[in-house]
Amino acid sequence: MTRTAGRDGHRPGPFHLNAFLMSTGHHEASWRLPESSPEHTSTNIAYLQRLARTAEEGLLDSVFFADGPGLRSDVGRRPAGSLDPLIVLTALAAVTERIGLIATASTTYNSPYNLARRFASIDIVSGGRAGWNVVTTAGPDIARNFGLDDQPAHAVRYERAAEFLDVAAKLWDSWDDDAVLGDKEQGVWADAAKIHAARHVGEHFSVAGALTTPRTPQARPLIVQAGSSEDGKGLAARYAEAVFTAHQTLDDARAFYADLKARTVAVGRDADGIKILPGLVPVLGSTEAEALAAERELDELIVPEYARRQLAATLRVDPDDLPLDRQLPADLPDEDEIEGAKSRYTLIVELARRERLTVRELIGRLGGGRGHRTLAGTPEQVADALQDWYDAEAADGFNIMPAVLPRGLEEFTAHVVPILQARGLFRTAYEGTTLREHYGLERPASRYSSSGVSVEAVELATAGVGA
Ligand SMILES: Cc1cc2nc3c(=O)[nH]c(=O)nc-3n(C[C@H](O)[C@H](O)[C@H](O)COP(=O)(O)O)c2cc1C
Repeated sequence: MTRTAGRDGHRPGPFHLNAFLMSTGHHEASWRLPESSPEHTSTNIAYLQRLARTAEEGLLDSVFFADGPGLRSDVGRRPAGSLDPLIVLTALAAVTERIGLIATASTTYNSPYNLARRFASIDIVSGGRAGWNVVTTAGPDIARNFGLDDQPAHAVRYERAAEFLDVAAKLWDSWDDDAVLGDKEQGVWADAAKIHAARHVGEHFSVAGALTTPRTPQARPLIVQAGSSEDGKGLAARYAEAVFTAHQTLDDARAFYADLKARTVAVGRDADGIKILPGLVPVLGSTEAEALAAERELDELIVPEYARRQLAATLRVDPDDLPLDRQLPADLPDEDEIEGAKSRYTLIVELARRERLTVRELIGRLGGGRGHRTLAGTPEQVADALQDWYDAEAADGFNIMPAVLPRGLEEFTAHVVPILQARGLFRTAYEGTTLREHYGLERPASRYSSSGVSVEAVELATAGVGA
């Protein structure tokens, strides 16, 4: 029996691969490895450019940068500090040609006009390679950077996110593709009837005018989402084109996949219009024993006391209630009481309960990938694991989270990608130039183009335009 995609019961390819890039790697102790250098940080743009080029050489669909507008509380434990990810994307666009460029931005701590403009600008600057991971940003610490005492309620954050996306979509549709005439003869630069004011008045936002940027190569950035709670799935079903998610077991991943596809169809969208990418943290070795030894070396570098405090914060319990060699307390809060990251909370508690893990064991499992699936093995074993989840309709692709960077990404593109290509599971060349083309997604039509009737001539007399 071959493992060729489309044969012998294997699902036809290709699937999608995103590289989730984070300083020295996703294993929390990766920075303590002898090979890790102080240069390997998220504030070193030359290093990040090198990683993006490695991902592009591996023909990956995209690279992704997570973000939160606040310095992490566990700064003592692992490399912290980051650049504004949209500025990072701009710098990566300048040194790459095809790789998609995805970054996180918050709908809770930004305004729609500014963010829509920034992503439109990156889409233009990159020739159509921008992607936006839409998050509502959990956690009281960050809320306090924006004049709040605590994070807004989970449901309110998601309501605001939905309206935020509606406004952004209106703004990205501001200019018709053919709005600019440049008619020197007649002295008409643009057809004002083809530039549309947003005129949005809603619960959370009021946005009057049109965006400053013409319609972009992708018309709008690829919309990514990463929340797996009920509200998260509701938002994804309505707006997301790619979904990052975390699952430990095939059953959980399959259930999530089927549920989200069904919700997407239920709101009138095509199931293929949303790509689901569970995370995987690979630790590679030329033999399984070598890979397991590498994983053990990393786990032994975890500082249990730091990790225990982090776990206590996530579970909203006192660290003293988490003795290292005992299982989690029985009386943990219900998911309903969690206003932060609901699905991650549930994933962690279920993992500990299902496998009867002590706190020390749980820290070891989370240290490797914060709840994402981790796998130590040969390139063949990692390729099999990806193909198994893909075949089982638990994924349309994967969020590759190297435990150690830059080596983990270099090894993945050099050793795992060729196996996937040989099986017909992954591209052997970029066919398209835009991120949407890599993900097999259409360029969205404008809400105006079909009727061609502009709401009304845009009042460009907003302060500052034409000054
Ligand atoms: C792969 C992945 C990447 C994420 N990146 C970010 C991020 O950059 N910033 C952030 O605030 N949250 C990030 N999250 C967390 C989600 O936005 C969300 O808070 C979390 O999944 C819980 O969502 P829920 O409350 O809807 O279940 C990420 C989650 C996943 C799975």
